[in-house]
Amino acid sequence: MTNRLALRADLLDITADPGLSSVDAPSVRFDPDCWLLVEDGRIAGRTRETPGDDWDKRDFSGRLLLPGFIDTHVHCPQLDVIASHGEALLPWLERYVFPAERRFEEAVAAREGADRFLDLLLAHGTTSAVVFPTVHKVSVEALFQAAAGHGMRLITGKVLMDRHVPDYLSDDVVSARADCIELIERWHGRGRAAYALTPRFAPTSTPAQLSMAGELLSRYPGTYMHTHVAENRDEVGWVASLFPEARSYLDVYASHGLLNERSMLAHGIWLDDADRALLADSGAQVAHCPTSNLFLGSGLLDWARLQAAGVGVSLATDVGAGTTLSMVRTLAEAYKVQALQGVKLTAWKALYAATRGAARALQLESEIGSLDVGATADLALWDWAHGPLAQHRDRLARELHERVFAWMTLGDERNLVSAWVAGTERWRRA
Ligand code: GUN
Ligand code: ZN
Repeated sequence: MTNRLALRADLLDITADPGLSSVDAPSVRFDPDCWLLVEDGRIAGRTRETPGDDWDKRDFSGRLLLPGFIDTHVHCPQLDVIASHGEALLPWLERYVFPAERRFEEAVAAREGADRFLDLLLAHGTTSAVVFPTVHKVSVEALFQAAAGHGMRLITGKVLMDRHVPDYLSDDVVSARADCIELIERWHGRGRAAYALTPRFAPTSTPAQLSMAGELLSRYPGTYMHTHVAENRDEVGWVASLFPEARSYLDVYASHGLLNERSMLAHGIWLDDADRALLADSGAQVAHCPTSNLFLGSGLLDWARLQAAGVGVSLATDVGAGTTLSMVRTLAEAYKVQALQGVKLTAWKALYAATRGAARALQLESEIGSLDVGATADLALWDWAHGPLAQHRDRLARELHERVFAWMTLGDERNLVSAWVAGTERWRRA
């Protein structure tokens, strides 16, 4: 029997790239007080008429229904060290992150960590993610198993790092290759799981390990590549000294076969014009992590230059350098990072980069990130305003952009009412 669910709310999604700063964007699709129809976990349509008795109807009039957010770069094991004081990237990794990641060598801890992480993503309205686990195979297994249990679209893969890390976190090319192959063959394409070759960043992999990752990326169709690039100036200098033959940090990845249209590179702050052209030509994507970049003092993303070069940018929390799992707060911080550079990021572009734009970057636009007919019903329902100040501001909004911008600037996970994954409600506010 067909499973029929109808949700009444203010429906909002973005149908195409609205550009960085144009408030008058034709790609904004807003249907206030409308029923979204979900059949067998997929979006089947929308209607203003009340659906018939064969629909399970839930009336959320006056609330905002969006596609679930896609967090395109986040670290599962780093929930334990979010909000750690006083360091920039490289010493922060040594002092806080590496000891925390060690705990995931143990299967029970990895499983508990994965469950906690995915429950928290849903509690923040995020229904899909591109995730760093740890170097340990069990940490990847744990994430894939937990995601399958929640029915979530998840992209992850064993972190590769065979130098410049403590011995307890180090792998080697031969064992890492065998682990990757085993994990790819078990998980890639199973349900909603997909595998990402995941070198941590250029300094922690030997050239031989980067080449191995490039080889597997081309050998296994549909796999992704997920890493960090050009986040911090000390890091960029370190990469230049480790890879003197490379033209740039990004070129290290390109020259090891790691740049293609399924590559997701976090940060991309310290790039030049040649790098931006290389990203555009390869189709690789930058995951912008504003709360992380501000927290670690890494720098300000030049989104306007990336946009002008034709490089896709999606949004990400980058917890635990990022200071929140809330994509709503991430949208607000992205606005501020652009404001510091004189760019007026619209709510439309910010929303796009956290939904359909991210899905497009992952080549999953027909599945996630929108309210299109045929898309999987990964949805999040929000209060337009939480608390008296936001409610006051919401009442004064005269047009839609003003209202959505106030929502993203003042809102957070407390605005979330419910989250659905493939049409099943997986989180509901108590
Ligand atoms: N570069 C290499 N590893 C990391 C990490 O864990 N977090 C961030 N923000 N940058 C990195
Ligand atoms: Zn990161």
